[in-house]
Amino acid sequence: MPATVLVGTQWGDEGKGKVTDLVSGDFDCVCRYQGGANAGHTVVANGHKLALHQIPSGVMYPGALSVIGNGCIVDPSVMLEELDTLQGQGITCEGLRVSGNAHIVMPYHKDLDGAHEKHLGKNLIGTTKRGVGPCYMDKMNRTGLRVQDMLDEKIFRQKLEAALAYTNPILEKVYELPTYTVEQICETFLPYAERIKPYIVESSKLLNELLAERKNILFEGAQATMLDIDHGTYPFVTSSNCTAGGAVTGSGVGPTNIQRVLGVAKAYLTRVGSGPFPTELSEEDGVGKFLLEKGHEYGVTTGRKRRCGWYDAVVVNYAARVNGLTDLAITKLDVLGGLDTIKICTAYECDGVEYTTVPEHQSVFYHAKPKFIEVPGWKEDISGCRNFYDLPREAKDYIDLIEQLSGVRVSLIAVGPDREQTINRHWD
Ligand code: GDP
Ligand code: IMO
Ligand code: MG
Repeated sequence: MPATVLVGTQWGDEGKGKVTDLVSGDFDCVCRYQGGANAGHTVVANGHKLALHQIPSGVMYPGALSVIGNGCIVDPSVMLEELDTLQGQGITCEGLRVSGNAHIVMPYHKDLDGAHEKHLGKNLIGTTKRGVGPCYMDKMNRTGLRVQDMLDEKIFRQKLEAALAYTNPILEKVYELPTYTVEQICETFLPYAERIKPYIVESSKLLNELLAERKNILFEGAQATMLDIDHGTYPFVTSSNCTAGGAVTGSGVGPTNIQRVLGVAKAYLTRVGSGPFPTELSEEDGVGKFLLEKGHEYGVTTGRKRRCGWYDAVVVNYAARVNGLTDLAITKLDVLGGLDTIKICTAYECDGVEYTTVPEHQSVFYHAKPKFIEVPGWKEDISGCRNFYDLPREAKDYIDLIEQLSGVRVSLIAVGPDREQTINRHWD
C-alpha cells in the first residue's frame, strides 16, 4: 500500500510545498488532487526559490511523475507560465501530466469571483480571485468545460457555446459585467490547447498502473483542513475537499491504497482571508508583529498579510480526526526562537462551556475564547540544527507537547525554508 497523502492541518500556508519537495525523493509520482491556481506553495532548493500555484511541487524532483488529478481545476495561463518559468530554470517538467477530467478555469470564472466578493461587501470571503468558487460551481452544475474538451476544437466550441448561453446573462444582468463570445475565448484558448495536449492523460488509469507496479505515490494537498468545503469554517473556505478523503475522489485511486497521512502544521498559526480564528493576535500585539515579520507571513498568491496567532492544538486534533493522520511535520519552529514564552491553545470557552474539539456550530466557534498553556521559549537560532537532540531543551519540550496533545507522532521538523533545514525524527 504505497500511497501517502500530505495535507495541511490548519488554514493553509503550513509549508506543504517545502515538505512535499523534501519527501518527494522517496516517491515515483506526486499528484495534486484538488484546488487550482489558488495554492501558493514555496519550494527552496539548491539556492532557487520557486512559488508554484498550479503544478505539483514534486516537479522539482527529476525523474518523478507530477500529476494534476481530476479533482483539480486548471488555469491554462498559469500552468503554461509556470511551465515556462520552470523550464527556464532547467527543470524539464518531462514528468508533468494532467487529467483530462480536471475542469478548466475560464476568464469569466475570475470575473464572477471578483464580482461575487464585491457583492458580499463586508461579509466577503477574501478569496484569491483565481476563479476557484465559480469554476467548481460550474463543475457541480454540469456546465463546466474539462481539460479533455481541449482535445477537439469542435467539441470545445460546442461546450463553450452552451456555457456562455448560461453564464453571459449572469455576467450582464446580475453583475453588469461585459459578456464573452465563443470567438474571443477560442482566440486565447486554442493556442493553450495545442501546448497542453501532450500532457493530457487518463490519470486514474496511470496512477493505478503505477500502484500495480508497486511504485510510490504522494498526494499533495493544497489549502488545508480548515479551508475544506465540508470540514472547514464554511462559508470561509475554498470550494474543494482539501482533506485526505479528497485524495481518493480527486485522483481515482481507492482508499485501501493509502498507507500514511502526513499532516503539515506550522509551529504557530496563520490565516489569509476572513473567518473565525480563536488564537489570532492583533498586529499591535508585539508577538503578532514578531510572527508576521520574522515568519515573512505574506501570501504567496496574493501578497496579502497573513493573520497570525498562537498554535491551536484543538485545530490540529480536529485535523488528526478528519484526516486520520499517521504523522505530523512541524514547520517554522525556527521562527519562534527569541520569544520569552510560547502559548498553546488546548481548549476554548464559549458562554461558560468548555470545548476540547472544534465546535460544530460556527457561531460558537466565532465567539470561542482560547484557553492557553504557557511554556518557556528559547533564545538560540535553531536554523542550523539537523538532529532533534541538537535543539535547545525548550524547543524539544515544545515538540513533545505538540505530540502529546495531538496523539500523532512528529516525524519531521522544519527549521528553515531550505530543503536541508530539516530534522528527520521518524520519516523513512
Ligand atoms: P504552503 O502553501 O503550505 O506550501 O506554504 P507557503 O509556501 O505558502 O508558505 C510557507 C512559507 O514558509 C514559504 O515562504 C516557505 O519557504 C517558508 N518555510 C517553510 N518551512 C519553513 C521553516 O521551517 N522555517 C522558515 N523560516 N520558513 C519556512
Ligand atoms: P495554500 O495551498 C491560504 C483562502 C482564501 C480565502 C478562502 C477561499 O498555499 O495553502 P478561494 O480563492 O480558494 O476561493 O479562497 O481560502 N485560501 C488560502 N489561504 N493558503 C491557500 O493555499 C489558500 N487558498 C485559498 O484566502 O479565505
Ligand atoms: Mg501557500
